[in-house]
Amino acid sequence: MAGLLTLYRRMAVSLKTPEEFDKMRVAGKLASEVLEMIDPHVVAGISTGELDRICHQYIVEQQQAIPAPLNYRGFPKSVCTSINQVVCHGIPDDKRKLKNGDIINIDVTVIKEGYHGDTSKMFLVGDVPNHARRLVDITQECLYRAIELVRPGARLGDIGEVIQKHAEGNYYSIVRDYCGHGIGKVFHEDPQVLHYGRAGTGMELQEGMCFTIEPMVNAGTFKTKLKPDGWTVVTKDGRLSAQWEHTMGVTADGVEVFTARPEESF
Ligand code: MF3
Ligand code: CO
Ligand code: CO
Repeated sequence: MAGLLTLYRRMAVSLKTPEEFDKMRVAGKLASEVLEMIDPHVVAGISTGELDRICHQYIVEQQQAIPAPLNYRGFPKSVCTSINQVVCHGIPDDKRKLKNGDIINIDVTVIKEGYHGDTSKMFLVGDVPNHARRLVDITQECLYRAIELVRPGARLGDIGEVIQKHAEGNYYSIVRDYCGHGIGKVFHEDPQVLHYGRAGTGMELQEGMCFTIEPMVNAGTFKTKLKPDGWTVVTKDGRLSAQWEHTMGVTADGVEVFTARPEESF
């Protein structure tokens, strides 16, 4: 029974006021606009370091906002760039240039008036093989199916189950080592939003909760390993991984996706 206590980690979930929702909306919009801005730059031949510099300059100068990853727990850059077998937290650098057929996740988090907006999407570089496109599309569907369930009274396990079922139903796997998170004045706060689980279990959602959903789906094993740089997470088997992320808040009757882009309707 010694393990029982650890099963019940106390969660300190903050409920945001309507005024705080206003700030989350602003931060979320800015983060989404960085992904739109960078889109035409994501082409074969550009380095991830250059993509980082373009995002950094846009966030700081145009948006008058702060790139949250920079110096966060020692992370050295302003966005994360995760190519092909990189699951998450890839560090931009000047050596790795995008090449035809790559899939890349760019993960942007901005701080505006003290509040965070956190979002990521996949970009396809040139001609991407069908199997990779399919992984990217199914991962996006996992996120969308989960968002559809968010409303007061739903449970975190409902979110985890729908994501896991859609990924595994397509013969993919769900990364267990990283999860979504509460967000607000703090980048990563309670609750932990797992991308696997059982419907009807876990914390009940309430109006005012703000969190991310950010499923990482692997073509092969769900197991990951950390590179010696202490940040870059890769698939253990070297096969492809995809991720999509949005920041949202629970409203009286559903969900508001703060980081939605114009092509998306929730
Ligand atoms: N944006 C990531 C997330 O979705 C966190 C990146 S932390 C960093 O939670 F330090 F790697 F940037
Ligand atoms: Co996040
Ligand atoms: Co993120």
